[in-house]
Amino acid sequence: MTIPQVNHLLELLYDRGDGYFVSDELTAAIGVDRTRLEKLIELLGHRGHALERNPARGVRLASPIRLDAHLIERELGTRRIGKHVICFDELDSTNDVAFDSARQAEADGLVVLAESQRRGRGRMGRKWLSRPRSNILLSALLLDPGKNLSQDALTIAGGLAVAEGIEAIGVHDVKLKWPNDVLLETRKVAGVLVEVRTVERNRAVVIGIGVNVGAHPHQELLDSPATDLVSELGHDVRRIEVIRKILQRLDEWVYRISEGKLEELRTAWLRRCGMLNERISVACGDVRHVGWLLDVSPLEGLILSTDDGRRIYLQAGSSRIL
Ligand code: BTN
Repeated sequence: MTIPQVNHLLELLYDRGDGYFVSDELTAAIGVDRTRLEKLIELLGHRGHALERNPARGVRLASPIRLDAHLIERELGTRRIGKHVICFDELDSTNDVAFDSARQAEADGLVVLAESQRRGRGRMGRKWLSRPRSNILLSALLLDPGKNLSQDALTIAGGLAVAEGIEAIGVHDVKLKWPNDVLLETRKVAGVLVEVRTVERNRAVVIGIGVNVGAHPHQELLDSPATDLVSELGHDVRRIEVIRKILQRLDEWVYRISEGKLEELRTAWLRRCGMLNERISVACGDVRHVGWLLDVSPLEGLILSTDDGRRIYLQAGSSRIL
């Protein structure tokens, strides 16, 4: 009975947003006496949630609200992604912890979240920096024994899911820079790193997502301008809501990819690409390609028309626009 009651208390407090609860309201809603309510509040504290008490108004959840698996999973409505969610305070990289779970068949769709990472990885061997308890550090694990899920298609889908997820909380004009940098005007607000490993002869894919919500790293630590959702929107943002929206969109794209419906992925990505028919420069390892951006193919990559009249394909996993 205890865990359902703690979850119920947490839901009531979370759903009230900034508003307060007086004790009698909570005891009546949960069906417990005051002593039991204090016990439940103590247990919520063990789960990392702090309460703010105001003698005149009552209690409410203190900000920033801790990431909590129950609040993320509840009525998520996804087919595959987020069936199980685990939240950590600190770890090396959420991608690594997701891969560590890949031995268990029931781990398909697992979502790993952390308040901070010691060794967050970015694309192309870069680091991913994030201020503790401010942002979203998320990895979704997919077990793919049938090899149905293209890494390149998922690389594109990850950025798209983030763009759609943050639009759902009120951010406008979210753009994508090949393959999956999520931009507000020219500033990066999120990045996606998709990695593939073989775990006990099973193909495991991890989609790692970093979103700057309440903070972004100082400019001198980065090679391109960055921003965060709170600075852009000018008000507080509930990380849990952003996570839920991203997981719902990601689930939809993963489903479409697994069904081979890639055309929708192509058109959705192109709608958010501000560079179509523009002259761009793309790095692919040590090689630099310059040309006109013609199109994108979820399986074959970015399609460029080069000055010598060739049509080249640059794969999502190994290229980036300069
Ligand atoms: C990029 O370079 O733009 C991709 C950044 C991806 C960062 C995320 S944070 C959660 C997950 N764990 C990691 O170590 N990296 C990804």
